[in-house]
Amino acid sequence: MLKGKVLEMLNEQMNREFFSWYLYLSAATYFNTLDLEGFEQWTRRQATEETTHAMKIYNYMLERNGEVVLSKIPAPTQKWNSPIEVIEAVYQHECELTGRINDIVRLTREVSDYTTEVFLHWFITEQREEEAMASRVLQKLKMIGNDMGGLLMLDAQVATVGQAPESAT
Ligand code: FEO
Repeated sequence: MLKGKVLEMLNEQMNREFFSWYLYLSAATYFNTLDLEGFEQWTRRQATEETTHAMKIYNYMLERNGEVVLSKIPAPTQKWNSPIEVIEAVYQHECELTGRINDIVRLTREVSDYTTEVFLHWFITEQREEEAMASRVLQKLKMIGNDMGGLLMLDAQVATVGQAPESAT
């Protein structure tokens, strides 16, 4: 049975994953206003994926008879000044998530909750991929600078990011 600090941190992580959904949705909304359809598609897809991450934790807590706590989801930033600002925020958020997952894994080892540790291995791999994806797009945006043609080319590229395992920027 899940309880104590591990359960508390899993509930917090579930909430963060739901916040991730909100953050990517805010990004998609901004890209829609710019008519950057590729960025919009990518961030919409990512938003949906974040709900699956949250639900994985939700289902795991139920399976282990842990009390699920559905707490308030903070509102994300909704006023963006540039695509690079959005992707920088996304990248920083993914890095933060990685750190939080690592914190929970560290705790599971301290309290010998190896079942939860193994459950979290999937998230460790997922975070590596998501950080890498956001980082690649961010670096390209930095290279592009104010080149509108470059931005439109990147927009076409990111439209397929995350569609299939072999997709990459
Ligand atoms: Fe659920 Fe983007 O990490």
